[in-house]
Amino acid sequence: MDQRQTEVIQINPTQPEPESIARAAALLRSGELVVFPTETVYGLGADALQTSAVERIFAAKGRPYSDPLIAHIADERDLEKVAVDIPSVARKLAQAFWPGPLTLILPAGPHIPRLVTAGLTTVAVRMPRHPVALALIRAAEVPIAAPSANRFMHVSPTTAQHALTDLCGRVPLILDGGPCEVGVESTILDLCADIPTILRPGGISLEALRTLLPTVQPPVRQTQRHEDRHDEHTSQKSPGQMLIHYAPSVPSFLFEGSNETMCTAMLAEVQRRRAQGERVGVLIADEDIEAFQKSGAQIYALGRAEASEQIATRLFAGLRALEEVGVQVILCRSFSEEGLGLAIRDRLLKATGGKIIRV
Ligand code: TXA
Ligand code: MG
Repeated sequence: MDQRQTEVIQINPTQPEPESIARAAALLRSGELVVFPTETVYGLGADALQTSAVERIFAAKGRPYSDPLIAHIADERDLEKVAVDIPSVARKLAQAFWPGPLTLILPAGPHIPRLVTAGLTTVAVRMPRHPVALALIRAAEVPIAAPSANRFMHVSPTTAQHALTDLCGRVPLILDGGPCEVGVESTILDLCADIPTILRPGGISLEALRTLLPTVQPPVRQTQRHEDRHDEHTSQKSPGQMLIHYAPSVPSFLFEGSNETMCTAMLAEVQRRRAQGERVGVLIADEDIEAFQKSGAQIYALGRAEASEQIATRLFAGLRALEEVGVQVILCRSFSEEGLGLAIRDRLLKATGGKIIRV
């Protein structure tokens, strides 16, 4: 597989060309991999019901078999193809949030290969809302298992170019539907727990879920999870959710404090490191640009600090862009935790490996 060429084809993100979809669907049915856009991040898809196809996902990503995959469907009726004993609350959530960035953990059906679930008795299911993803799943006529289309431990891809950087030569086809709208992965909600619990915050906010399901529990704080990492129960419940999961290849730090103290401390750290000859990157808000302009740091501004949707959309691109210009360290500011802010904080914690500087 490594010797093969990867073809990238442009596809209309709102009205995908049927011939491109048919080609990609035929590849999937033949047991091959296809990278496709979703509204969250690009996915690395395979026929979820063919073990040998699913095996290819793990090989292409370099991902351990202990990390289960999400099965993507295009119609609520297809839930029965992957899950059993579907609780009424799942139907209610599906009605409200599908298609969209919500993944439900449900009891696994008998036809789902063990590779997809990593041997768990549960399965993760989501119906994406991106027209290309929906058209592809429909044309393939099978549920599509798809993790984010990055190499294991790297930042998730929000453009086809990101996916190509990570998977060139490892997949036959990438459908390029432009940049992803949401920019962070789906929210994972465990409906098999005693109380519905968020395992990974994402594109659907805790607040939005609570309007429908007031009992839903927020995710376990990442720092706590870090300490609990070797706890067997924790790792069973949230496989693949270890802190370093999304790390860029350069050491990164997350600054926490008021807007002013955060910027002052980041500027001081830029100066200290530059004096040692280091190339420093900063991930900041638009309103911080002026303060950093003459600092000599490579700047990537994500948007206005309160515009969490825009911050989420640009976050992974920002981490990759700084990595690509060759900085030796990335300093990130933090943002409010409301709405999409919870997912942003989670990804920043993962990107920095939990290295927080409180000022
Ligand atoms: O937005 C998304 O969710 C993207 C797009 C492509 O749909 N997909 C994605 O997949 O982020 P991935 O594999 O990178 O992350 C899915 C996570 C895994 O790390 C795993 O921890 C969790 O989902 N997961 C899968 N099955 C599970 C299960 N049965 N129980 C608990 N967690 C599960
Ligand atoms: Mg991933």
